[in-house]
Parts: sequence; structure tokens; C-alpha cells
Amino acid sequence: MAVDGVSMVRRAEKADHRTATEVLLRSRHASIPAIPPLVHSDEEVKRHFVGTVMPSAEVWVAEVDETVTGVLVLNGNWIEQLYVDPDWTNQGLGAALVERAKAERPEALDLWTFKSNQGAQRFYERHDFRAVGGTDGDNEEGEPDIHYRWTR
Ligand SMILES: CC(C)(COP(=O)(O)OP(=O)(O)OC[C@H]1O[C@@H](n2cnc3c(N)ncnc32)[C@H](O)[C@@H]1OP(=O)(O)O)[C@@H](O)C(=O)NCCC(=O)NCCS
Repeated sequence: MAVDGVSMVRRAEKADHRTATEVLLRSRHASIPAIPPLVHSDEEVKRHFVGTVMPSAEVWVAEVDETVTGVLVLNGNWIEQLYVDPDWTNQGLGAALVERAKAERPEALDLWTFKSNQGAQRFYERHDFRAVGGTDGDNEEGEPDIHYRWTR
């Protein structure tokens, strides 16, 4: 389904970092149990993302009618974060963000996703990512994960 409104993907400015983090938090909370709960409080996540993660990475946002509805964080060839606001999923915004990531990193992209997150696995496989590895829980949440890679 296409978005009913004017949508675009644009590079985030510093002023967007807080809103983008709030989208990420809403998405994480709505994704339980497919994604394990965060091990930090919302305030800790906000401080970490707004103060450290986003200023040192490349952040893109999806916007609909000037409201931030999705966030993509690129660091090197890694998609470190990809989240669409739960009110806006299944409307192609994630696809638009992945296409942007491919345009920005035309050779290859890597990412981690939780093994429990089957919706995201379908999404990445549809976008030609392939599982190349994984761990039994070598992450903050201690849950099994999958390493996906896309190459042109
Ligand atoms: C995964 C996600 C980024 C995709 O963005 P989107 O805008 O919903 O995706 P699109 O509309 O382009 O494509 C739809 C596909 O996304 C996936 N998807 C949709 N809602 C989802 C959700 N709540 N959780 C996980 N995957 C979802 C499904 O594969 C869906 O296809 P389906 O018809 O086979 O179910 C987005 O759904 C999301 O943020 N989900 C929750 C958080 C998450 O899983 N992030 C990825 C962490 S690695």
C-alpha cells in the first residue's frame, strides 16, 4: 500500500535526532516480543542516541507530510538501525529507506536482526539481503541474531 500523503526520505539534521529516536523507541516497544525489550530505559536510550550514536553516524529519515515516520542509521557499510513508526508500517516507507541505503552504499550493506523478528527477515530477503552468519546471543539483549548482507 502506498502512503496517502507527501512522503520523502531525507538526510536528518541535528534537530531531527530526538524525534528520530522517539520513532525508534515507539517501534521497539511495539515490536515486543518479535524484538526483545530494550535493556535500557527510554531516557538512557534517548541520551545515548541523541548525544552519541546519531552525531557520529549518517542518519536518514522518512517523512510524511513533514512528520518523521521512519529512521535509518548508517555507519560504514552497516545499517545500524532501521525503524518505521508502528502507525506507518506496511506502506513502503521501510522499502524507501532501504533503497536509500543501497544508493548511498552501492557495493554492499550489512545488518543484524533478531532471529525472532520474522517480519524483518521477510522484508530484508525481499530486498535481496542474504543471511551470512549469526550468533546465539552475542548482543546486549542476549538473544539469537542473524547477520544479513546485501551485495550488488
Ligand atoms: C521492518 C520495517 C523497517 C519495514 O518497514 P515497512 O515500512 O513496514 O516495510 P514495507 O512496507 O516496505 O514492507 C512491508 C514488509 O515489512 C515487514 N514488516 C511490516 N511490519 C513489520 C513489523 N511490525 N515488524 C517487522 N517487520 C514488519 C514485513 O516483511 C512486510 O511484508 P509482509 O507483507 O510480508 O508482512 C518496519 O516494519 C519496522 O520498523 N518494523 C518494526 C521494527 C523492526 O523490525 N525493525 C528492523 C530491525 S532489524
